[in-house]
Amino acid sequence: MIEKQNMPSFGDNASDRSDKRKVRRFGAQHLFSHRPPYDPVFAERVPLLQAFSLALGNYRTRLGLPAGRWAALRSVLRRRAPFMAAECGVFSGSSLLACASIARDQGVDFRFIGLDTFDGLPDLSEIDKQFAPPQASYRHRRLFTETSLEGVCQMLSAHGFSREIQLRKGLFKESIPSLEDVKYHFVNIDCDLYEPHIECLEYFYPRMIPGGIVFFDDYHSVEYPMAREAINVFMRDKPEQLQHLRFGADGPNITKAFFVKY
Ligand SMILES: C[S@@+](CC[C@H](N)C(=O)[O-])C[C@H]1O[C@@H](n2cnc3c(N)ncnc32)[C@H](O)[C@@H]1O
Repeated sequence: MIEKQNMPSFGDNASDRSDKRKVRRFGAQHLFSHRPPYDPVFAERVPLLQAFSLALGNYRTRLGLPAGRWAALRSVLRRRAPFMAAECGVFSGSSLLACASIARDQGVDFRFIGLDTFDGLPDLSEIDKQFAPPQASYRHRRLFTETSLEGVCQMLSAHGFSREIQLRKGLFKESIPSLEDVKYHFVNIDCDLYEPHIECLEYFYPRMIPGGIVFFDDYHSVEYPMAREAINVFMRDKPEQLQHLRFGADGPNITKAFFVKY
C-alpha cells in the first residue's frame, strides 16, 4: 500500500530538483514533474506528456474554444462529452498521475480509465519468447509486481483524482469487455508484450475519435522488441502514420511513437 505521508509530491523547490537529479535512471516508482521545463532526467517520460497535451489541444479545438463573448456562450451550450483517456499498463500509476495533472491544470473535464493486472506482467506467449532478448530478466522473473490496485487507488485519491480516474484490475482480455462503449481522445499503450498490444489496439483503435491519439511507450523499446512487432502488424493496413518523439539526447528507449487517428 502507498502511504500518503510517504508520497513524493510535484513540488518544485530546490531540494525536489536536486532529489530528481539523483535519480540517474528513471524508475516508475518516482513521480515526475508534469510541467515544462522538463528535467532531462525524465527524458523517457516527456514524449508521453507532450502527446497527451496534443490530444488535449485537439479536443479543445473540436470543442471550438471561444474567440469572443458569444462564442464562449456557444461553447458552453454545445458542451460535449468529457475528454476520455485510457492507459493500458498502469503499474504504480506515475504516468497516469502526470497526465491527469496536466488535464486538471488545463481545466479540462476528463475521465481516465487505467487497466492493469496490478500483479505484474502476464506469462510470456510463444511470440514473446521468440522476440525476447536472450538476456531479458523477464524470461525468468515476473516484472512489475511491486504495485497493487489498492495502493494506486489510494495514491490517486491522495492527489484528488477519485472522481475522474477509474482503475480496472485483471488481464486486458478480462477487463476490456467490462468497459462502457464510449469514444476516446487519448490512449497510452504501455504493456510491453505482443498480445496485450494487439488486444488493446483491437479494442481502442475503432473507438478513437478523429484527432485522438494513441501513444506507444514501447515501440522503440530495446527490452521489449515484440511491442514494435505487434504495432507494425496491427498498423500495416491502417491509413495513419506513426510519428516519433524524443526529448533530449538519443539513447535506448528514449524515443516514443504515436499516431493521430484519421
Ligand atoms: C511498463 S509497465 C507500465 C508502466 C506505467 N505506464 C508507468 O508509466 O508507470 C507495464 C504494465 O503492463 C501491464 N500489463 C502487461 N500486459 C498486460 C495484460 N495482458 N493485462 C493487464 N496488464 C498488463 C503489467 O502488469 C505492467 O504493470
